[in-house]
Amino acid sequence: MNILSIETSCDETALSVVKVEGEFPQATYEVIGDAINSQVAIHAEYGGVFPMMAKREHAKAITPLLKLALEEAELLEEGAHELNQKQTEELYEILNREPGLSETLEAFLEQYDKPEIDVIAVTSGPGLEPALWVGVNFARSLAKIWNIPVVATNHMEGHILASIYDVEDENALSDLQFPTIALLVSGGHTELVLMNNWGQYKKIGQTRDDAVGEAFDKAARMMGLPYPGGPEISRLAKLARAADLPAFADLPRPMLHSGDLDFSFSGIKTAVRYAIGEKELSETDKQALARDFEDAVTEVIVKKTMTAVEEYGAQSIVVGGGVSANRHLNQELNKAVVEQQPHITTYFPKPGLSTDNSVMIALAGHARLASAVNAAAAKYIRADGNRSISEE
Ligand code: KG4
Ligand code: ZN
Repeated sequence: MNILSIETSCDETALSVVKVEGEFPQATYEVIGDAINSQVAIHAEYGGVFPMMAKREHAKAITPLLKLALEEAELLEEGAHELNQKQTEELYEILNREPGLSETLEAFLEQYDKPEIDVIAVTSGPGLEPALWVGVNFARSLAKIWNIPVVATNHMEGHILASIYDVEDENALSDLQFPTIALLVSGGHTELVLMNNWGQYKKIGQTRDDAVGEAFDKAARMMGLPYPGGPEISRLAKLARAADLPAFADLPRPMLHSGDLDFSFSGIKTAVRYAIGEKELSETDKQALARDFEDAVTEVIVKKTMTAVEEYGAQSIVVGGGVSANRHLNQELNKAVVEQQPHITTYFPKPGLSTDNSVMIALAGHARLASAVNAAAAKYIRADGNRSISEE
């Protein structure tokens, strides 16, 4: 089975064609086409992602990316197909809120044959709603004209699956031991999720204010570092550790001993602002502060994750989302596991799969197809910016 997957929840437009053999989770997944366009450079100028700008960029990029992904998968065949009036009307109706997209997609559909795609998987949430709609309506249009099903996938479930997935090991997904604690850390989320089986998600902890990626981005901005701040802070923090620089700021560890599994990061951010005050930061000040910040955030995350592991007798930890690329978090969590729970397996995504991508959406789509929940899935797929993983 070939899955076409589409991701437009934030600032990456990504489409993949994934060839799947077997049933979830024993299946093998081969990425035969993959095309991505990042808007990071555009948003960097403004220090964050603007939903309406993201929407416009997705609409501009998505049809050319579809062409690239299908081309790479060798599924693109020229052929003249005049859409009939009904089809054209349907297309324009579905895409009526996506300016310019109906025209480009219509031209594409008239130029190429229906490819060998069996199902479309699209991110329906969580994410920026205007951005999500582009992917959802694009998927609905293709599904209509090609007469194939479309499955709405959860972006966070995608991050979890992407972290377990391993091209080199076809049994990676089926080897996962439950219960699992999923630690989801991204620009929009900080959550601890209990999985007792595939498709069963229970949120057991979450942030009460900023998401951890957001805290990285905001702290970086205060320090005059470019967007996205996470990788930049991480790079400077490493230099501070190598040089063993003295502390620049004494930052709090909010909710470390709160007795529950919730997080709060806005206090750390405020403490960073006070520590900077009116000072002009030198290069070493920035390095030391980046390290102090990363230490504070990491300590809280590791402690809460290990508490969750103990409380629920977890056999594995899966770390997913953009912040899972953080080296220090990886090292500290692994260290805690070796010291406290050496029998459990910890999963971090392979390079290239930590940030938003569409391979993870194909995996989540396949998981959804296999689950009973999907059988009852609504015919009408809609974007839902606040879609929670717990409702799955
Ligand atoms: O999952 P993601 O790509 O997009 C969302 O769904 O939010 O996550 C993006 C977030 C950004 O806040 C970025 O600063 C953060 O992930 N990030 C990192 C690192 N790489 C990306 N944070 C800390 N350390 C990193 N190495
Ligand atoms: Zn993400």
